[in-house]
Amino acid sequence: MSTHAPGLDDGPHTSGGPPPGGRYDALVIGGGIIGLVTAWRAAQRGLRTALVDPAPGGGAAWVAAGMLAAVTELHYGEQTLLGLNMASARRYPDFVAELQEASGQDVGHRACGTLAVAFDADDRAHLRELHTFQQGLGLESEWLTGRECRRLEPMLSPGVHGGLRVAGDHQVDPRRLTAALLTACERAGVAFHRDRAERLLLAGDRATGVELTGGVRLAAERTVLAAGSLSGRLAGVPEDVLPPVRPVKGQVVRLSVPERYAPFLSRTVRAVVRGGPVYLVPRENGELVIGATSEELGWDTTVTAGGVYELLRDAHEVVPGITELPLVETCAGLRPGSPDNAPMLGPTALPGLSLATGHFRNGVLLTPITGDVMAESLAGGELPPEAQPFTPQRFTARSATPSPGAPGAAHSPAQEQHI
Ligand code: GLY
Repeated sequence: MSTHAPGLDDGPHTSGGPPPGGRYDALVIGGGIIGLVTAWRAAQRGLRTALVDPAPGGGAAWVAAGMLAAVTELHYGEQTLLGLNMASARRYPDFVAELQEASGQDVGHRACGTLAVAFDADDRAHLRELHTFQQGLGLESEWLTGRECRRLEPMLSPGVHGGLRVAGDHQVDPRRLTAALLTACERAGVAFHRDRAERLLLAGDRATGVELTGGVRLAAERTVLAAGSLSGRLAGVPEDVLPPVRPVKGQVVRLSVPERYAPFLSRTVRAVVRGGPVYLVPRENGELVIGATSEELGWDTTVTAGGVYELLRDAHEVVPGITELPLVETCAGLRPGSPDNAPMLGPTALPGLSLATGHFRNGVLLTPITGDVMAESLAGGELPPEAQPFTPQRFTARSATPSPGAPGAAHSPAQEQHI
């Protein structure tokens, strides 16, 4: 969700450098989690890989809460996306183990489950319907009374009248995940160009690399646009393959739980308050992340009094004790929204150009599977079957394999197919 980065923007420079012959096998534009995981997995396949970003390690994950909430964040009409989300959730334990080994860093993965709670009759009806929907799809979730919810989480408000326990929806710390990916990329030999990508380079009807600020040109067999909400803004990309991503603002508040209050919450708690969703994500290091607003305001990343007020007001309704906790940070960022809320993965109709963008609410969750399917495709294989409903070509006018019904949110294949 973010444009904020953790202080790595120390001016254009390069580590790694172009390979002999000057042409990379894979050139990734964007150093957020999606670009980093793509570069890491590509380098592991033996591809000479470069990544372009003025401040790698920032991006949406810097703001994200890190819920791995395939089941509790299920939306009607997103059944195909659910299949991808579940497939990525299943990969998480092995992915984390491998990444921690490769980077030597802990990523704060916590297999703690999630509790979604309801207050009034409307909330309960909404959660009951969600429960029925989940069960119809074979997903694991359990209905609890208010008392049972409070037994699990004693800090919950007495006003909680029921809830859904989803034992399989976990969490990870996105900032640590990003830092670990950065180290893993460096150790795997990814060349970092800490500079801005200005323009896609074309030769005939083929993408051949990218031009950086100052005119440096990097040549590549395959270029991947993985720049989150900025992915639709790179000059030189032909209009008919430009990804339809838009920024969707999210504001987040971070509190800290002093030792004397621990454990304040033991698992992620979600609720719908006055029709708006709110979530509280407790980390083992004492951080409590409260999120998030969802605002269609273009490129604005201002933290507003209203946004913070609403988050704290709604979170207070769920867990009144939060007012005792120190407030340590507020931040805002930009989710890369797509017309059907699903990512665009794999080759575009322009030879040499692939996309890994549009992950919207699910970037952290989809990190493992994105790395795997992108690397397979970049190494010359077919886009794996689980990623095929998410081909960029479902939206663009130019299509190597026309999709019936595309483009359009309501009729895109990514929403119509069933898991
Ligand atoms: N997945 C949580 C959010 O986008 O706010």
